[in-house]
Amino acid sequence: MNKPLENSTFVIFGATGNLARTKLLPSLYHLDMENQLPEGIKILGVGRRISDRQAWIEELENDLKGKVRGGLDKKLFKNFCEKLEFFNGGLRETANYQLLSEFLQQAQFSRNISFYFSLPPTLYGSVVTHLGKAGLLKEDQGWRRVVVEKPFGNNLESAIDLQRHFDKYLKETQIFRIDHYLGKETVQNVQVFRFANLLLEPLWNRNYIDHVQITHSETIGVGSRGSYYDEAGALRDMIQSHLLQLLSLVAMEPPVSMQAEDLRNEKVKLLRSISPIPKNAVSSYAFHAQYSSGIVNGEKVKGYIEEEGIPEDSVCETYAAVKLHIDNWRWRDVPFYLRTGKRLAEKRSMIAICFRQPPKQFFRTSQLEKFQPNWLLIGIQPDETLRMELTVKKPGLDMKTQTISLDTCLNEDTSKDAYEGLLLDVLEGDHTLFLRADEVLQSWKIVDPIIRYWDSQTDYIPTYAAGSWGPEESLRLFEKEGQAWRSSLNPEKNR
Ligand code: BG6
Repeated sequence: MNKPLENSTFVIFGATGNLARTKLLPSLYHLDMENQLPEGIKILGVGRRISDRQAWIEELENDLKGKVRGGLDKKLFKNFCEKLEFFNGGLRETANYQLLSEFLQQAQFSRNISFYFSLPPTLYGSVVTHLGKAGLLKEDQGWRRVVVEKPFGNNLESAIDLQRHFDKYLKETQIFRIDHYLGKETVQNVQVFRFANLLLEPLWNRNYIDHVQITHSETIGVGSRGSYYDEAGALRDMIQSHLLQLLSLVAMEPPVSMQAEDLRNEKVKLLRSISPIPKNAVSSYAFHAQYSSGIVNGEKVKGYIEEEGIPEDSVCETYAAVKLHIDNWRWRDVPFYLRTGKRLAEKRSMIAICFRQPPKQFFRTSQLEKFQPNWLLIGIQPDETLRMELTVKKPGLDMKTQTISLDTCLNEDTSKDAYEGLLLDVLEGDHTLFLRADEVLQSWKIVDPIIRYWDSQTDYIPTYAAGSWGPEESLRLFEKEGQAWRSSLNPEKNR
């Protein structure tokens, strides 16, 4: 049985915003439902839009209704509400931090405090500074933790600058940089799959693997997040963070142990081994595009520039594809292709590992015929699967072949949100699934040449029809003729 958690106070800045309403509070409710929260915990919502606790609870009841597992249970919700408090105030006004500090002096609040920044990232620096100046980050009466969402900075330079603000008032052990992908079941399974199965290890290198693809595709557009997204774009929003994390887990060396620092050391080492993208050849390594109107799931949808809050001359990318090489003994000359896009044909996150062809192809009917290579597919969502494709003989008198797959569904209950485990880790003080400062800075270093190049291209961006798989031109990133994106788990659908 796990040690009971120390009592603490969980402060959510931006408690009435989208992330808190759709992810944090439903996850906290679920944790409460499963008796996972510490005895005596208080969850303090901080926000401007709502005036007091009662109004917050009313809004919350509505929000949770459609979201929680098994429907909202009156008794559980009542219990949950007993843990909730509200502080009305904006974070741009210095005076509010003093008021917040006084509010937190009440006996009902534990002195162990987590501050969750569910805020626009541009506010992180100033909020940390204000908290620091108000003495709220000092650990003399209990621990203090700060949880930040990505993006941590906007490019390498701003991330370094933001880190300086954090260093002034916080120790690294107080900071929890969330990447919610690390909380996903299948993502955690990548480590178990790699390091608990010896049979893969001899194959997991440049001798047997031809290339690796990591895809994250979405059918949704930018929705109401236009003002954030137009500043970020797909590269910063997904590749710099989530997809580089997936790549590190697939490609890193076995760590000394599964403890946070050992794991993070190994990920940083891997990120540092990625060859820098040459400034004068960015277009051979990266491709970007923006969705125009089209049909998604049978419905007509707007193009990006017609979305709410998007300037009509925006050249922000909603699709990004990047090729990276890892310059180490294991991976030299094995390209890793990462791509992500909004308003694509399907919602899917998948790691697809393509093995090399056997040295000699015996079972061909013509000189031109090539076998399908073996693929190992790790489906992250919506299907949490593991699938190995092999070539076998087709039944019959002829020596014809076909591709079959050995696959398994890893998890049928996909209702658990990645945030549930991550919030619990914050309360426990476990950094294993959070990013360390050097990891974030190294990830920015990798994408920085692309950011600079794309930022300089202010007058044109290629487009793709919403509902498609993105522009064909992105195929130019592939190094070998005939190679293409693996978009589906099903090999037939992919052709
Ligand atoms: C977020 C991005 O970090 O991840 C969003 O900001 C994206 O743009 C989301 O939609 C994808 O997460 P998931 O868990 O739905 O794959």
